[in-house]
Amino acid sequence: MEAKRVAAEKAVEYVADGMTVGLGTGSTTAYAIHKLGEMVKQGLKIKAVATSTRSETLAKELGIQLVAFADIDQIDLTIDGADEVDPEWNLIKGGGGALLREKIVAAASRRLIIIVDESKVVQRLGLFPLPVEVVPFGWELTMRKLANLGYNPRLRTENGKPYVTDNGNYILDCRIGLIDRPGQIHDRINSMVGVVDNGLFIGYASLVIVGYHDGTAKELPRKDEP
Ligand code: A5P
Repeated sequence: MEAKRVAAEKAVEYVADGMTVGLGTGSTTAYAIHKLGEMVKQGLKIKAVATSTRSETLAKELGIQLVAFADIDQIDLTIDGADEVDPEWNLIKGGGGALLREKIVAAASRRLIIIVDESKVVQRLGLFPLPVEVVPFGWELTMRKLANLGYNPRLRTENGKPYVTDNGNYILDCRIGLIDRPGQIHDRINSMVGVVDNGLFIGYASLVIVGYHDGTAKELPRKDEP
């Protein structure tokens, strides 16, 4: 889709020779990975760390050199998508199931550029169901605890079976509704035993690039919290 592609192509302009680049996950990031593949063929020298086996496979196919997370100190720049972005650049991520590795990579990155099409920009997060990655052992109990908080969790499935993340965990998609204090919800969910992480990314984005259906891409101005 044009809007996703233009955002992705704007983001790769920030990639320079010698960088270690984090590769996000999802259809928008796939455009960025394809573009980086072209740039590598034309001589760009980068090393990359992937946030999912899907992105790793794609990067390998395109000839992008991958390095193990264990072998690097820091990632210069990560390019990743999001499911929702609010005016303070808080995000919901994990629609593609890669939230945990995405957050680990984001936390190790000097800069995180988020690329989205215009449909992802919202005034308040929460219409998109919040993915919560949970340990399979006792997941039913974890789900009941989330339900008791009114978060309306539902087990993500694939072909009639629980969807399993790259880390061997399950995902509970929570229909919370519009979120007033994303930081508070993030902490409340992550303090629960059995929860590995959730898809709220607070304070990680360094830049948000929005692609529009008219083929333009613009940086989203950031409104600071009062
Ligand atoms: C993957 O787990 C997600 O965080 C994605 O970054 C997010 O779902 C955006 O995906 P699309 O670019 O496919 O919309």
